[in-house]
Amino acid sequence: MTTWLFMIHLQIDTCNSFYCDQFTPTSPNRPKIWTENWPGWFKTFGGRDPHRPVEDVAFSVARFFQKGGSVHNYYMYHGGTNFGRTAGGPFITTSYDYDAPIDEYGLPRLPKWGHLKELHKAIKLCEHLLLHGKSVNISLGPSVEAGVYTDSTGACAAFISNADDKNDKTVEFRNASYHLPAWSVSILPDCKNVVFNTAKVSSPTNKVAMVPEKLQQSDKGQKTFKWDVLKENPGIWGKADFVKNGFVDHINTTKDTTDYLWHTTSVLIGENEEFLKKGSEPVLLIESKGHALHAFVNQKYQGTAYGNGSHSAFTFKNPISLKAGKNEIALLSLTVGLQTAGPFYEFVGAGVTSVKINGPNNRTIDLSSNAWTYKIGVQGEHLRLPQGDGLNNTKWTSTSEPPKGQALTWYKAIVDAPPGDEPVGLDMLYMGKGLAWLNGEEIGRYWPRISEFKKEDCVQECDYRGKFNPDKCVTGCGEPTQRWYHVPRSWFKPSGNVLVFFEEKGGDPAKITFVRRKVV
Ligand SMILES: *[C@@H]1O[C@H](CO)[C@@H](O)[C@H](O)[C@H]1NC(C)=O
Ligand SMILES: *[C@@H]1O[C@H](CO)[C@@H](O)[C@H](O)[C@H]1NC(C)=O
Ligand SMILES: *[C@@H]1O[C@H](CO)[C@@H](O)[C@H](O)[C@H]1NC(C)=O
Ligand SMILES: *[C@@H]1O[C@H](CO)[C@@H](O)[C@H](O)[C@H]1NC(C)=O
Ligand SMILES: *[C@@H]1O[C@H](CO)[C@@H](O)[C@H](O)[C@H]1NC(C)=O
Ligand SMILES: *[C@@H]1O[C@H](CO)[C@@H](O)[C@H](O)[C@H]1NC(C)=O
Repeated sequence: MTTWLFMIHLQIDTCNSFYCDQFTPTSPNRPKIWTENWPGWFKTFGGRDPHRPVEDVAFSVARFFQKGGSVHNYYMYHGGTNFGRTAGGPFITTSYDYDAPIDEYGLPRLPKWGHLKELHKAIKLCEHLLLHGKSVNISLGPSVEAGVYTDSTGACAAFISNADDKNDKTVEFRNASYHLPAWSVSILPDCKNVVFNTAKVSSPTNKVAMVPEKLQQSDKGQKTFKWDVLKENPGIWGKADFVKNGFVDHINTTKDTTDYLWHTTSVLIGENEEFLKKGSEPVLLIESKGHALHAFVNQKYQGTAYGNGSHSAFTFKNPISLKAGKNEIALLSLTVGLQTAGPFYEFVGAGVTSVKINGPNNRTIDLSSNAWTYKIGVQGEHLRLPQGDGLNNTKWTSTSEPPKGQALTWYKAIVDAPPGDEPVGLDMLYMGKGLAWLNGEEIGRYWPRISEFKKEDCVQECDYRGKFNPDKCVTGCGEPTQRWYHVPRSWFKPSGNVLVFFEEKGGDPAKITFVRRKVV
């Protein structure tokens, strides 16, 4: 009990936001701490590319110190990668670049990185007064105020801000006149000279490109590029996990040990069934709480459906062809990253909730309360195909022409590292959706899903002025949300690197290339 009380006393409430100047800890004796300043934002498969203008990031940081801030931390300063299945969700991309000052691949993002470096230098010039001085807030007119730090020696530092989101202002401060661009803070380490203004960016800009590199086979004796291929059959493999009438919650069943959960059932179709006639194809109608699903009928791929960033639920609706007699329905339900924050998310759930076959004249076959057979995961995961012991599995078939447009297919190739020392990515534009590995290390989920947003939902130019939100300065509408997948250089051996993909719905592996991320 005493330990518990002791812990409560050590708690300090902190702020996570785009702005924390207005934040006040619950007690005036506690330091004002900003644990997460978000200099950008993450993205979701099918979503847009968020960008936070550096003028606004710098504004937020300077305002925080103007108003008595004591600890400030960026989240993220260095963008990253959600390797393997570590991405949150639903639908958060493998890339967690975040539009951060240092990008996902480790390169400085300019001018963002350079401008913040200048900002940090200017704040550092005020260090002594910020730590030891007394502060006052002075209003210099509508939307304009100064945070002034002084000490007993007469030293003085000031942060003067103009929070007007449209108009520049000219103000008097200590008998001098200062011009302040809209939505900016000037830093005066001596209360006289402006050493930095958050809206005036003087840092150079750089341009970065993804330079393609054909995959090079390690075994130079090979005349043509060789792939090993292994196709899985849709449906239950090995022994079923369980049979149940109706549906289960996907997440509670897989417990996130895999993205995949097979559901299979069969339906008997009579010889005289209306929709066996030409032109009266039945429609397979599936409702799911999320996140995605591939459907197979009689071993044939029928299509894919998925939710989007804000709505993980979706409807699958595709015409299918059935035959007289027994028809096998196999549904591969998927999660695409689980929720990582917010209340009650163990109750959100995912997975199939209804399956119907609709024919002409309102004929409906409801399969929802059928006996469904379940299997957690796909067979290749169980065989550990991407890892050491599974790689030499005898079921692989060698070919110089990897089949394209094939669902549920594993591909393997032995490749050399791309030349040079630049960071490396994989271009997966021509693949469908799946998982990728190099030397048994999990590159992660790939899905070059096109952003579902219309052109007008993106910006051409971004006005840094005014309050930021993640939808404010977005780009990439109608483009693949994530084309490139980071493969750390440290995962490569000098040669004989094993690249493995599991493709869920069909792609063209012959078009996969490495890319090198280069400043051009
Ligand atoms: C200045 O304003 C901030 C917030 O607006 C407040 O936390 C701080 O106590 C003020 N400082 C003084 C000296 O009034
Ligand atoms: C500003 O000017 C007034 C009048 O000339 C003078 O009294 C005051 O000390 C000056 N203030 C500063 C900070 O220089
Ligand atoms: C996301 O899905 C919901 C529900 O299906 C839909 O209303 C919304 O328009 C979708 N958003 C995008 C960007 O596609
Ligand atoms: C998952 O299981 C837990 C524990 O049995 C239960 O409380 C929760 O409601 C289940 N979630 C869903 C979405 O069914
Ligand atoms: C199908 O159902 C709708 C709504 O219940 C009804 O209006 C319609 O007449 C039906 N059509 C046929 C061909 O039975
Ligand atoms: C797989 O086979 C290759 C070539 O025969 C061999 O060098 C390697 O050690 C084997 N790997 C494993 C994990 O058995």
